[in-house]
Amino acid sequence: DAVESAPAIVIGSGYGGAVAALRLGQAGIRTVVLEMGRLWNTAGSDGKVFCSTSAPDQRSMWFRTRTEAPLATFLWLDVVNKDIGPYPGVLDRVHYDNMSVYVGRGVGGGSLVNGGMAVTPVKSYFTEQFPTVDADEMYGTHYPRARAMLGVNTIDPAWFESTEWYRFTRTSRKAAGNAGLKTTFVPNVYDFGYMQQEAAGTATKSALAGEVIYGNNQGKRSLDKTYWAAALGTGNVTIHTLEKVRSLSRAGDGSYVLTVDRIDTTGAVVETKQYSCTYLFLGGGSVGTTELLVRARDTGTLPDLNSAVGAGWGTNGNTMLGRANHVWDTVGANEATMPVMGIDDWANADNPVFAEIAPLPMGFEHWISLYLAITKNPERASFTYDSASGAVKLGWTAAQSAVSVSMAKKLFDRINLANATIYRYDLFGSGSKVFADDFTYHPLGGCVLGKATDDYGRVKGYDRLYVTDGSLVPGNIGVNPFVTITALAERTMARVLVEDTAP
Ligand code: FDA
Repeated sequence: DAVESAPAIVIGSGYGGAVAALRLGQAGIRTVVLEMGRLWNTAGSDGKVFCSTSAPDQRSMWFRTRTEAPLATFLWLDVVNKDIGPYPGVLDRVHYDNMSVYVGRGVGGGSLVNGGMAVTPVKSYFTEQFPTVDADEMYGTHYPRARAMLGVNTIDPAWFESTEWYRFTRTSRKAAGNAGLKTTFVPNVYDFGYMQQEAAGTATKSALAGEVIYGNNQGKRSLDKTYWAAALGTGNVTIHTLEKVRSLSRAGDGSYVLTVDRIDTTGAVVETKQYSCTYLFLGGGSVGTTELLVRARDTGTLPDLNSAVGAGWGTNGNTMLGRANHVWDTVGANEATMPVMGIDDWANADNPVFAEIAPLPMGFEHWISLYLAITKNPERASFTYDSASGAVKLGWTAAQSAVSVSMAKKLFDRINLANATIYRYDLFGSGSKVFADDFTYHPLGGCVLGKATDDYGRVKGYDRLYVTDGSLVPGNIGVNPFVTITALAERTMARVLVEDTAP
C-alpha cells in the first residue's frame, strides 16, 4: 500500500495538537494532522452545525443509539437522555471499569463541548505538581501566550450582577458566603460581548439557548476559531478528519509509521492507510495518547517506552453534585451555559476544593444549585494492555472515587449546614445518588511530564516523539485544565523547535 509521508504528523486536534500544529506550521514544517472526529462546519437540515441539548440528535454523541448525558435524571425520571442514530457525534463517553471519561470528538477536541472555563492554577500548586518546570517562565510567558491565543475574556461584573441569566450563580455565591467561603470570578473563552447581545435579543442565542456539551453554534471561541484557523493560515498544515490512528511503530530509518483507519459516518472502516513521518506529536488527549503508547509498548511495536507510560492517571478529583435551595432562593428559569464563578477553598489545607458553580439550564425554575467540584484527590491509576481482549484497561477503583466524594461532601456539608439546605438525590440515576463519582470531564495523566517523557514532553526511549496534551499533567491541577495543557504545549514547542528541528 502507498505510504503517505510528511515531515511532521500530529495525532489529535484538541489543545495539545492545536498548539503543536500551529507552531510547526509557523516554522515552515509541513504537517499532517489526523483527527478521528469530523470537522464541525456544515449545517444540518435544521440550519445548525450542532444540535441542541434539549433535543439531541445523531450529532450529539459518538456512535451511540442513546445519549449518555452527565445528569441522567430529573426527579429520578429518565427524561434527559434520548434515542439517537449512530454517527460521529461531538461528545464521547469512554467507559472503563468504575470510571467513564467525557471527551470531545472533532476538529477542536474538547474545546467543542467544554464549558470554556479558562483558569490558571495558583502558582504554588503548579510548582507542587511540576517541580522541574520553571514556574516563572510559565507564568511570565507560556500562560499569557496561551490565554491570548485562546481568546480568554471575563464577564462584565456589573452585567453579571444584574442579568437574569446568572441569577443561579449569584444564588450559589450567597449560599457559599453564608458558610464563610470565598467565591471568585473565572475567565472563559466564550465571547461575553456576544452573550450580552444574546441577552438583549440582538444576536442568535447559543450560551443563552442551552447549548454547551453537544457544541455551541455561536459565541464560543473553540479551537477551530483560534489555533486551528491560525495553523491552517500558515499554509503548511493539513487536517485529515474521520481518521483514527490505530497503531504506531518505527521503521529501520528511524521514521515513525502509523496505521490509520479512515471511517465513514456510519463508523465503517472504508480504508486502512499507512503514514510515515520524521517528527511525531501525540495530542490525542489523556486517554487517546496513553492508549496508543501503552499498546505500542506492550505489543512490542515501540518496545523501549518506559514503565511510566500508562501510569499517574487521575480524574482531577472531579465530583458533580446538586443542592436544593429554599423556595425563596430562586435560580431563575434562564441560565447561561458558561460558568463564570467558582467556590475557592483550595487554600484550606485540611480539605482543598475548587468548585465550579455549574449551570443546569432546563428552561424552568428548579431551585437546584449544581457544582463540579475539583478536589485534591491524591489517588492515581494506571492503564494496562490486556492481551486477551486487545483492549487497554484502566485500573481505577470505586474506592479511589470515594476519596473525591468525601472531600466534596465536607465542603458542601458546610454549605448545607449554614443554609439549612439539603442535597438533591434525583439527578444521577434511579438510586438516591447525591455525588456523581463515576465520570470525569478532566482526565489527566498517563504520560506524565518528567516520568514517561523528559521535562519538555519528549518521550523517553525514542527521539523525535513528543506528547503535548493532557496526559502530561500528573492526575490533578486543582482547576479546569485546558489553559495549563495549552501553556505546557506552548512551552514544549518553543523548546523543541529550537533544539530538535534545527538543520
Ligand atoms: P482533547 O481531548 O481536547 O483532544 C484530543 C483529540 O484527539 C480529540 O479530538 C480526539 O478525537 C482525538 N483523538 C484521540 N485519539 C485519537 C486517535 N487514535 N486517532 C485520531 N484522533 C484521536 N476544561 C477546562 O479547562 N474548562 C472547562 O470549562 C472544561 N469543561 C469541560 C466540559 C466537558 C463536557 C468536557 C468533556 C471537558 C471539559 N474540560 C474543561 C476539559 C477539557 O476540554 C480537556 O481538558 C481538554 O480538551 C484536553 O485537551 P487535550 O489536548 O489533552 O485533548
